[in-house]
Amino acid sequence: MKKEKATANNGVRSYYETFEVRQDATTDEIERAYRKAKSVYSDESVALYSLYSGEERKQKLLELSDIYNTLSDPAKRKSYDESLRKERTAPSREWDSGSINAGRDAFEEYSEVDAFKDRITLRRALSVAEQDQMATEKFRILFNRLEQICLKGSVKSIAVTSAVKGEGKTTTAMNLAFIMATEFKKKVLVIESDFRNPSISSEYLNMGRLHGLIDVLKGDADIRSAINRLEDTNLHFLPARCSVKNSSLLLDSPGMRSVLSRSKEDFDYVIVDSPPIFPLVDVSILSKCVDGMLLVVKAGATPKDIVKKAVRSLPKDNLLGIVLNCADSIHMNKYYY
Ligand SMILES: Nc1ncnc2c1ncn2[C@@H]1O[C@H](COP(=O)(O)OP(=O)(O)OP(=O)(O)O)[C@@H](O)[C@H]1O
Ligand SMILES: [Mg+2]
Repeated sequence: MKKEKATANNGVRSYYETFEVRQDATTDEIERAYRKAKSVYSDESVALYSLYSGEERKQKLLELSDIYNTLSDPAKRKSYDESLRKERTAPSREWDSGSINAGRDAFEEYSEVDAFKDRITLRRALSVAEQDQMATEKFRILFNRLEQICLKGSVKSIAVTSAVKGEGKTTTAMNLAFIMATEFKKKVLVIESDFRNPSISSEYLNMGRLHGLIDVLKGDADIRSAINRLEDTNLHFLPARCSVKNSSLLLDSPGMRSVLSRSKEDFDYVIVDSPPIFPLVDVSILSKCVDGMLLVVKAGATPKDIVKKAVRSLPKDNLLGIVLNCADSIHMNKYYY
C-alpha cells in the first residue's frame, strides 16, 4: 500500500505514520491498523523479548488508544488533519536545521583533516584485531560475500540487527567494520543506532569524543564533534554516547535520515549497529533508511519461531543475509553467512 506522506513538520511521526495507513484511510482500515499496532505492545505478543518495560508498554497502548479515538471520530480527525496541514507548511525547526543541515560539510571537513591524528584507541580487543585466525577468516568470508551483493545492488549502508537482545550485533558490526577498514582498506563509518542500549562508547572506545549521535540529533552538538576515528585507520565511529527512551522519535527524525544518507556519500561503507527487531518499531523505521540488513542469529539460543518472525518482519528485498553467531564457549566461535 503506497503511503501518503503525512509527517508532522517537527520530525514527530504523524498519527497516520504510527498506524502505517494512508491519510485517507477508511474507518475500517484505521480500526485494523489500531488492532495491529496494539498487538505489538500487548502481553501475548513478543512482550517477553520486548525492550519496553511493563510501564512503557502501558504508556504506548494509551498513546495508541488516543490516536484511535482521534482518527475514528470524524470531527476530531478533521481537526487533526487541519493541524497536520498547518504544521507541514510552518517553517521547520530543530532537527531540520543547524548542525544537521551542515552534515555534508561536516563530513567533508572531517575527511579533509587527514593531517589530524586522532588518538582514539579500542578499549576492548576485537577478535579480528587480536590475530584470532579463525574469527578473522570468517569475517573475511563474510565481507567478501557481502561485497559481491553490495556491488551488485549499490548497497553502502548496512544495518546489523537481530531478533532479540544480546545475539552479537555489536560484536559482528565492530569486527566486520574493523576488517573492512584495516584489511580491505575501505573507509568505514560505524553508526550506533541502538539508542536504548548503546555500548560503543562505553565498551569499545578509549578517549572517545564527548558528544554522540544523540546530541547531534537533538541539536546540541555538531556532527564533527561526534565522529571518532580509530588511530591509524580509516575506521570511524559515530556512537550514540547516551541512551534515550524515546528512541523511535529520534530514529524517525529528518536528522537521522540526513546523517544516514550523507554519510554514504563520504564513506565506502556505513555499518549501522542497530537495536533488536522486537518490539519492531525501531528497526522497521531504520530498515527504510538503510540499503540492506544483516540479521545476526545466536545459534542454539534464539527460538526458531522468533527468528522466522524476525525475518518476516524485515522488508523482503532488504535482507542481505544471516550471520549465525554461536557464542558457545565449549565450541569455537562460529560465524556463518
Ligand atoms: N561469537 C562470540 N563469541 C563469544 N562471545 C560473544 C560472541 N558474540 C557475542 N559475544 C558476547 O556476547 C555478549 C553480547 O554480544 P553483543 O553486545 O555483541 O550483542 P548485541 O546483540 O549487540 O547485544 P545488545 O542487544 O544488548 O546490544 C557480549 O558480551 C559479547 O562479547
Ligand atoms: Mg549491541
